[in-house]
Order: sequence, then C-alpha cells, then structure tokens
Amino acid sequence: MTTLQSPDTVQATLGWGIVGTGRISTSVVADLTQCAGAEILSVHSRDASKAAAFAEQFGAPRSADSYDELLADTGIDVVYIATPFATHHEMTRQALLAGKHVLVEKPMAMTANEVEDLFQLAAERNLFLMEGMWMKFNPAFNRLQEEIAAGSIGEPRSLRAMFGMPFPQDGGSRWDVKRSGSTLLDQGIYPVTLAHMVFGAPESVHAAGTVRSDGLDLAGHFTLEYSDGRFAQCAASTLEFADLAGSVSGTKGWMVLPGPFWATTSLRMHTGSWQNIIHAPEAIDLDREGNGYIPMLRGVSDAIAAGLTEHPVHTAADTVAVFRTLDKIRAAIGAGTPTLESNKQ
Ligand SMILES: NC(=O)c1ccc[n+]([C@@H]2O[C@H](COP(=O)([O-])OP(=O)(O)OC[C@H]3O[C@@H](n4cnc5c(N)ncnc54)[C@H](OP(=O)(O)O)[C@@H]3O)[C@@H](O)[C@H]2O)c1
Repeated sequence: MTTLQSPDTVQATLGWGIVGTGRISTSVVADLTQCAGAEILSVHSRDASKAAAFAEQFGAPRSADSYDELLADTGIDVVYIATPFATHHEMTRQALLAGKHVLVEKPMAMTANEVEDLFQLAAERNLFLMEGMWMKFNPAFNRLQEEIAAGSIGEPRSLRAMFGMPFPQDGGSRWDVKRSGSTLLDQGIYPVTLAHMVFGAPESVHAAGTVRSDGLDLAGHFTLEYSDGRFAQCAASTLEFADLAGSVSGTKGWMVLPGPFWATTSLRMHTGSWQNIIHAPEAIDLDREGNGYIPMLRGVSDAIAAGLTEHPVHTAADTVAVFRTLDKIRAAIGAGTPTLESNKQ
C-alpha cells in the first residue's frame, strides 16, 4: 500500500460535488468548508430550491437540478454521497462511471457483493473510493491502536460495543426497508468495524434479533468469535437504549471508549498497577476538529492527491470484510437479504 504524503505537502485543490442535503450532509459539509484545498462546487438535491439554499449556505457557486447534471460537471473531482443507503450502490456506480472519485456515507452499500462490485469498478477506472467510516479516522481510534500495539492492555482478548437508541418512529428513512432500513447496516456497522479493527474477521458469528414482517431488522445482538477464545459482544437497536460505550480488554487491563464510542474524544485506561487498573484509571483526552469529520475528509483529499484508489486506513479489503460479517449477522437474525435488483430506486 502506498504511503500518504504529509498533509503539509499536499496543496492540490479538489472540486467537490455534494449529493443530498440532510442532517448528516450539513454536518459533514460544514467540516469540508474548513479543509484546505476543498472547493465545494455544486450541490444536488431532489428539490432544486433545497439544493440552491444548501449551495448558498456553504458558498458553492452552483447547484444541479439532476444527478446527471452534477456528474457531467467537469469541475467536480470528487462526489460526496449522503443519501439513504439503499441508494448508495447505484449512485456510487453512476459517479464512478462518470469518472468521479467518491466518498459515500456509511454503509457503503447493502451487501458485501455490492461493495466488492464498487471497489472493482473504482480500481478499473483508477478512481478513489471510500466509505465514510469517520470513526477509523478519529484521533481516539488512532490512540486506541497505538495503545494496543504498545501492549498497554497486553494481548487483546475481548471487546464490547453497542449502539442502541429508541429513535422516534417518524416515518423517516430508517423505518423504510427501501431507503435506510436495517439497524445492523445503519448502527451495527460501527461495532462490527471496531471488532474488525481489533481482531479482524471473525471465525464464527452468533446472532439473534427482532425483524419486522417486511424484513427490516429493528434490533440485533451478536457475538463474533475468534481463535483461542477471543470474542466481541455487540448490539444495535432502533427500539431501546443499549449502552453506547465500548471497551477492549486484554491480559493486562482494559480500555473504555466512553459513549458514543464511535465518536469518542477520550479513552479511559484501566492499565498499569492493580490500583490503577481497578480503582484509578487514567483518562486520555483528545481534541475534536470541527464536527469530527475533518480527519476523514483530510484523509480523502490526501489519498486522492497521492493517486490512491483506496485509503490505507479503510481499504477495499477492510470494507468488504466488514460487510461479509454484516451479511452473516443479517442472515442469522433472519433479516431480509437485499439484492442489487431490489436496491434500485
Ligand atoms: N457519518 C455519520 O455520522 C452519519 C450519521 C447519520 C447518518 N449517516 C448515514 O448517512 C446516510 C444518510 O442518512 P440520513 O439520516 O441523512 O438520511 P435521510 O435524512 O433519510 O436522507 C438524507 C438525504 O438524502 C436525500 N434523499 C432522501 N431520500 C432519497 C431517495 N430516496 N433517493 C435519493 N436521495 C434521497 C434527501 O436529500 P434531498 O432532499 O436534498 O434530496 C435527504 O435529506 C445514511 O447512509 C446514514 O447511515 C451517517
């Protein structure tokens, strides 16, 4: 894998096209305005007046009435897609076919086969593609990996991570299997990605959950098992709270990622002497830049400037592997299995 240049040495300006004007897009694009070399050139919404208002809010010179119009804009180098995830495969495919680099919100698609399909296309076209898995760029996760590599907790043996919240039943996309329905794909992707970061792909998966009659998984809890008795215990739910903190435990201590673990700015180190491990953990506090997306956005710019087609922090292989595990969990709990055909809007 090619090493990235230092951010200080990367000066190229990248033209960005934004697709979708919802809450997450607003939050991420606000961070994009703070990234050196990022020029927000155009915005597409299904509603032309929303696109124009969003463009004005973030200083983009134009908006596009159709997705095709945005993709035909020769000034745009990279497209950020922040629409409900049942649309991601098709929209990402179209953007790659139009010659654009793509940053697509998590989850990149609905199945491992769809993800593989997209990375294959990106590689064929020599274009950069990444899922917006910002958690992996969070300084707390860099520190977590450094502490594990340094042996602070000894050999990592187990992990716990959950993301459960009783979201309002407002008819939004998370309640619609044809848009962003699936608590495992929407929320469960964070604990699964954390488990893959620490232990890699599991040898076996045990899962159970609550599935609506149309196949939408509303809640799931799962154990990922590895050799020598290592395991990750995880859960995701749209129905009730499940403690948002995470932890990684080893032979010499453990680390807590205070909730919400995927966005944490601190680590609690239960390491060192028995006194510190049990009664007086050390707190490590880290900075958050903007809304938390700046490290990821900077990573995308640097990777594109370096001519990479994937990012070393969240590679094609990493992404496919996480989706293979998600496929297994969804199958185990009896969630509807989406197909390329059924995802088309
Ligand atoms: N990284 C994070 O922190 C984070 C947080 C929350 C969500 N997400 C992810 O971001 C994605 C979007 O989530 P969200 O909660 O923002 O979803 P959302 O509010 O349902 O939709 C986002 C935007 O997509 C557009 N849209 C809606 N339905 C569409 C459709 N059928 N076809 C094309 N465009 C459509 C709309 O923008 P227009 O009206 O402008 O067309 C809408 O505002 C999901 O994949 C989700 O998992 C990421």
